[in-house]
Amino acid sequence: MPAIPNMGTLAITLLVMTAAAAFWVATADSSKQIIVKTVKGEKVCDQGWECKGLSKYCCNQTISDFFQTYQFEDLFAKRNTPVAHAVGFWDYKSFITAAALYQPHGFGTTGGSETQMKEVAAFLGHVGAKTSCGYGVATGGPEAWGLCYNKEMSPSQDYCDEYFKYDYPCSPGADYYGRGAIPIYWNYNYGKVGEALKQDLLNHPEYIEQNATLAFQAAMWRWMTPDKKGQPSAHDAFVGTWKPSKNDTLAKRVPGFGTTMNILYGDSVCGQGDVDQMNTIVSHYQHYLDLMGVGREKAGPHEVLTCAEQVPFNPSSKSASSS
Ligand SMILES: *[C@@H]1O[C@H](CO)[C@@H](O)[C@H](O)[C@H]1NC(C)=O
Ligand SMILES: *[C@@H]1O[C@H](CO)[C@@H](O)[C@H](O)[C@H]1NC(C)=O
Ligand SMILES: *[C@@H]1O[C@H](CO)[C@@H](O)[C@H](O)[C@H]1NC(C)=O
Repeated sequence: MPAIPNMGTLAITLLVMTAAAAFWVATADSSKQIIVKTVKGEKVCDQGWECKGLSKYCCNQTISDFFQTYQFEDLFAKRNTPVAHAVGFWDYKSFITAAALYQPHGFGTTGGSETQMKEVAAFLGHVGAKTSCGYGVATGGPEAWGLCYNKEMSPSQDYCDEYFKYDYPCSPGADYYGRGAIPIYWNYNYGKVGEALKQDLLNHPEYIEQNATLAFQAAMWRWMTPDKKGQPSAHDAFVGTWKPSKNDTLAKRVPGFGTTMNILYGDSVCGQGDVDQMNTIVSHYQHYLDLMGVGREKAGPHEVLTCAEQVPFNPSSKSASSS
């Protein structure tokens, strides 16, 4: 072994420069450099590839500081068992690589330690519920089977909506069935996420089932992006950067996990009382909070955790991730 200085958690090298301070923090398996600057009176940072671009969010710990490989393996314990349908596809590395795109915008880096862990549990709660094959007889409980799928197994149609033929024309031979971590359906949804990620998903929707990093990126884009102008993203609704309007309050939409379901699935899940479709998503989130050591009691009361009584933001129509 080459002689390297032992960088215990207390041994932080601090370098003060004229405009910027940089220091190295030893983490479990690597050391990283944090660059700190002040821009227009605001403290901004850069933490290398995982949180790049001088953002205030990059001053906080990043996801890999509190969510590591063994935890990913815990949450998705059954995904590589022989009966699973996407064996070998999903892994920790693709999750973190994808997250690097959105951490500078606040994904998993907002609000301090507990909020950060809760957001990762919440996002993955949606992912786990939407990719689970843990129904019926399943060892380990139904919540142990997230990331069992990466695509819809027996699509009943090609999900080509001709109404969007000018903006998002269906490509001959392409099928727009559900694929990904929060599954994408329909030509127009592949078109929109493809524009955002600069990938030709309209002509190549299959990229999503071939590349786990891209599949996670698409799901994170959905989490970080409002469905309509004037509405919050799931991220904003969850971390509380969204302030409900009077109408929202009347519609019982409050910041929290419940409203993320309202944004992602609308009335296919919300406003119908304690229905199974909703409870399945909630129970994955709770299970992950427990496994991550946060504890399900931190999820808040029923009206924050669920959308059972909420009025949907966008009443019935096809929503980007309805299944
Ligand atoms: C960073 O974390 C602190 C608490 O550790 C929190 O108060 C602050 O809001 C976080 N910064 C951002 C930009 O979310
Ligand atoms: C998978 O997608 C990511 C993110 O778009 C990209 O950087 C990477 O090159 C892709 N991998 C392959 C094997 O195409
Ligand atoms: C609030 O709700 C009313 C009644 O549904 C609607 O007419 C109005 O446009 C809404 N206001 C906003 C700001 O969404």
